[in-house]
Amino acid sequence: MHKARIGVTGLAVMGRNLARNLARHGHPVAVHNRTSARTKALVEEFGGEGTFLPAETPEQFVESLERPRRLVIMVKAGGPTDAVIDEFAPLLEPGDMIVDGGNANFADTRRREAALRERGIHFVGTGISGGEEGALHGPSIMPGGSAESYEALGPLLEDISAKVDGTPCCVHVGPDGAGHFVKMVHNGIEYADMQLIAESYDLLRHAAGLAPAEIAEVFRTWNTGRLESYLIEITAEVLAHTDAATGKPFVDVVLDQAEQKGTGRWTVQTALDLGVPVGGIAEAVFARSVSGHAALREAARGLPGPSRTAVAGSGFADAVEKALYASKIVAYAQGFHEIQAGSAEYGWNIDLGAMATIWRGGCIIRARFLDRIRAAYEADPETPTLLTDDHFAEAVGDAQDAWREVVATAARLGIPAPGFSTALAYYDSLRADRLPAALTQGQRDFFGAHTYRRTDRDGSFHTLWGGDRTEVGA
Ligand SMILES: NC(=O)c1ccc[n+]([C@@H]2O[C@H](COP(=O)([O-])OP(=O)(O)OC[C@H]3O[C@@H](n4cnc5c(N)ncnc54)[C@H](OP(=O)(O)O)[C@@H]3O)[C@@H](O)[C@H]2O)c1
Repeated sequence: MHKARIGVTGLAVMGRNLARNLARHGHPVAVHNRTSARTKALVEEFGGEGTFLPAETPEQFVESLERPRRLVIMVKAGGPTDAVIDEFAPLLEPGDMIVDGGNANFADTRRREAALRERGIHFVGTGISGGEEGALHGPSIMPGGSAESYEALGPLLEDISAKVDGTPCCVHVGPDGAGHFVKMVHNGIEYADMQLIAESYDLLRHAAGLAPAEIAEVFRTWNTGRLESYLIEITAEVLAHTDAATGKPFVDVVLDQAEQKGTGRWTVQTALDLGVPVGGIAEAVFARSVSGHAALREAARGLPGPSRTAVAGSGFADAVEKALYASKIVAYAQGFHEIQAGSAEYGWNIDLGAMATIWRGGCIIRARFLDRIRAAYEADPETPTLLTDDHFAEAVGDAQDAWREVVATAARLGIPAPGFSTALAYYDSLRADRLPAALTQGQRDFFGAHTYRRTDRDGSFHTLWGGDRTEVGA
C-alpha cells in the first residue's frame, strides 16, 4: 500500500480543511481523529478530492506515513495538544516531525520542542491563520522549528499556503517557538485593527450621524484606497446586512459584548514581559473586556457626560480615514516592535519584512498596506520603528490635523475611542523632546531611593529628600 506524504490528526473544522487542502494539491494525506466518526465523515464527504488514508488508531496512522514522518496536530490548544504528543511521540523515530498547527502559546511550544529534540524528533510549532476558509483555500502559514525540518516540510506547506503575486504566504520564521510567537502577535494586531475599525464606525454613526448602510458605503470606498484589506471589506458587508427577523440593521440587533479566545491577551502579557509598549493592542483587548462587563456597564450607565449629538461636518469621514490609517500604522509599528524584541530575546533572527510578506494573503489581516511594511524593512532592516520609514512618516504627518480633530471630537461628544487615543499618545510620546518620566524618576527617588540619572553627566544619583536635600552618587 502507498504511504501518505503527510498526516493530520484532529479533524474538526481546521484539521479537516487542512487535510482537504493537502489532498487537493495532490499530496496523499493520512487522516485520524480521536473520535473516528469525524475521520469517516471526512472520507465519505470529500474522499473524491484526493488520496486520503484514514486511520482508526494512532498506530495505524503512524504506520501509514512515509519516512521521515510528517504528522500535523490540529487539536484544541493546551492540554489536548500535550495529550496527543504523549500518545504519538513513542510511536515515532528520530528524524520524524510533529507539526503543531493549533494556536499554542509560544512558551508551550518552546517546552515541547526542547523535550522532543532530546528524542531526536523535530517539533514544528506552526501558526496558521485564515480560519476554516483559509485552511481549505490557502492560509498564511508561520512555521517555527529547526531549519532541517523546514527543508522537509517547507515545500508542502508553501504549496498549500495562499499566494500573492506568485509568492507563497509561508516562510520559515525561526527556531522553536518563533512561529507561534509571530502568530500570536499577528492575532494581537488583528485585535487592534478590528478595534480601530469599530471606533471608526462608532464615530461615523454618532459624530457624523450616518446610518449603518451609509457607513457601509464609506467603508466600500475606503476599500478602494490605501486601507484596502479583508477586514475593511467584511466590515462593509456586515454593516450593509439587514436582520431578516426585525428588518433592522444587523449591527443593531447583535449584543454589544465582544468575546476573545486568548491570543490578544497573550500578546499583551508577553509585551509586558519584554517591556514593549503595545498600547494599541492592549486597548483593543481591554475594549472587548469592558464591553463584556455587563453589570459594570449597567451600574455606570447613568453617569453624566455629553450627549452623542451628531455635529461633524461633511469632511468628517475623510478625517476618520486619516485617523484610522495613522492609528493602524502605530498598531503595526507596536506589533513589529514586539516581534523584534521577542526575536532578540530568544535568538530567533526573525526577518521582519518576510513576516509582512506572508501576511499579505490567506490571513485575517491581509491588506495592501503590508506591501508598504515589507518595503520599509527592505529599505532598512534595522529600523527601530516603522513610524520613521519615509512613507509612514509622511502618511502620519499628513494625518496630523485630522487625527487630532477626530480624537478631540470623540472626547467632546463622549464617544469612547481608546484605540485612536492611545495611538496618538504613543506617537506624541515618541516624538516628544522631553517626557514627564523625569518627574516620575524624581518621585521614585523621593519615596523609595530608587535613584535617577542626570541629563548632564553619567552615573546614578540620589537626593537626600528626608535630610538637607543634597545629592549623592549612588
Ligand atoms: N477555528 C479557527 O478559525 C482556527 C484558526 C486558526 C487556528 N486554530 C487552531 O487550530 C486548532 C484546531 O481548531 P478547530 O477549531 O479545528 O478545533 P477545536 O475545536 O479547537 O478542537 C477540536 C479537535 O480537538 C480534538 N481533541 C480535543 N481534545 C482532545 C484530546 N484530549 N485528545 C485528542 N484529540 C482531542 C477533537 O477531537 P474529537 O473530535 O475526538 O473531540 C477535535 O478534533 C486549535 O488549536 C485552534 O486554536 C483555529
